[in-house]
Amino acid sequence: MDPVPLDRLVALAREMLAYSYAPYSRFNVGAALETDTGEVFTGCNVENASYGLTICAEQNAVAAAVSRGRRRFRRLVVVTRGQRAVAPCGRCRQVLAEFGTDLAVYGVANGEKVHWQLRDLIPDHFGREFLDADPADGDGAARARSGSR
Ligand code: THU
Repeated sequence: MDPVPLDRLVALAREMLAYSYAPYSRFNVGAALETDTGEVFTGCNVENASYGLTICAEQNAVAAAVSRGRRRFRRLVVVTRGQRAVAPCGRCRQVLAEFGTDLAVYGVANGEKVHWQLRDLIPDHFGREFLDADPADGDGAARARSGSR
């Protein structure tokens, strides 16, 4: 499938600002994550009275995609209000890097649009190669294919 026009990804991410639940910081964030097949999964930040439990917009977009069996991504757009474009926080960079650092990341605000590559945002990240684990372990799709529960 062809890549989605960048403007369309920005519009989808911006739509998520309306769903953003940020009563504590009042900092609304929307994210749109495009898969290698041109599907788009979106997310917004979801805060909590126990502040540390807050989930970022990017993380919710990743969870939405992975929950539908999608794990290969090519572009991520993060939209915020205000003038300055936002790059994913450190935790989100790590969550995204789990699925590959060959990802174009766009931060879009009212006064600024910035483009990065995830590999530059999180060089030398901790990944599965440091673990003595078979990538197929714990893979629900692989288990389903082999007929095991
Ligand atoms: N936030 C995101 O959703 N993504 C980021 O990359 C940066 C921070 C959210 C978390 C919190 O709800 C608010 O922005 C302020 O930190």
